[in-house]
Amino acid sequence: MTAPTILIFDSGLGGLTVFREVAAARPDAHFVYAADDAAFPYGSRSEAELVDRVDRVMGDLIAAYEPTVVVIACNTASTLVLADLRRRFSLPFVGTVPAIKPACKASVSKMVSVLGTEATVAREYTKALIRDFAEGCEVTLVGARRLAVMAEAHLRGEPVETGEIAAEIAPCFVNGGTSRTDTVVLACTHYPLLRDRLADAAPWPVTFVDPAPAIARRVVDLIGPSGGPPSAAPSRIHFTSGASPSPALAAALAGYGLYAQTGHPDARYAIP
Ligand code: DGL
Repeated sequence: MTAPTILIFDSGLGGLTVFREVAAARPDAHFVYAADDAAFPYGSRSEAELVDRVDRVMGDLIAAYEPTVVVIACNTASTLVLADLRRRFSLPFVGTVPAIKPACKASVSKMVSVLGTEATVAREYTKALIRDFAEGCEVTLVGARRLAVMAEAHLRGEPVETGEIAAEIAPCFVNGGTSRTDTVVLACTHYPLLRDRLADAAPWPVTFVDPAPAIARRVVDLIGPSGGPPSAAPSRIHFTSGASPSPALAAALAGYGLYAQTGHPDARYAIP
């Protein structure tokens, strides 16, 4: 049986938190991680711009790598383009959307916050998840303007002030007098990169819900469990800007088992 090729896609490096789980579930698979860094951050782009871009970039990635399955490891993209991608391409797509249902089920105080990009929390898709799955919880939507950029800086080993993180996440913490927020959905794949920092910056302890393990289970449901020995081929990361990672970033990526794809000049994706 040939090992599957799994394409993990994000605007940037947040998808690493998903890649880590999927790679642990299917160590025999061949992985390609594609970061659309030329357009990062997606959270500040218009819906029309994103629909067009993801469609174009995905078409080229699928043609180049012929994946068995694609994981859209990005809430900002999944909540907008998943249905279009499934219509256009015949291979399976696994999306990443805010984990509102499990968070609301697990909340004891029934006060849940959803922390995502400004775009994700404004999406009709996210509002429909709340209408369908809030389970009697009071759900607070919080759009973080800079947290994804801070997460990438943290990954590159650059200093990120705890106070800056605290300011971004402060609206998640609602104290209703008799009860207060006990669960925060990490509705952007970048945020688990900051997991310990988020806990340090939180005014009180909460459960941060990271959907990555559930996404890995969904991939295994679709393509089956590991079918052979761990892949000997190194997993590749492809940047749409064509830029090479700095030594610090290359070291962080190597920690995830990812090595930059060279010889793939993708200047055609660069945004002027
Ligand atoms: N990682 C992305 C997400 O899950 C978005 C970050 C961005 O590009 O703004 O939403």
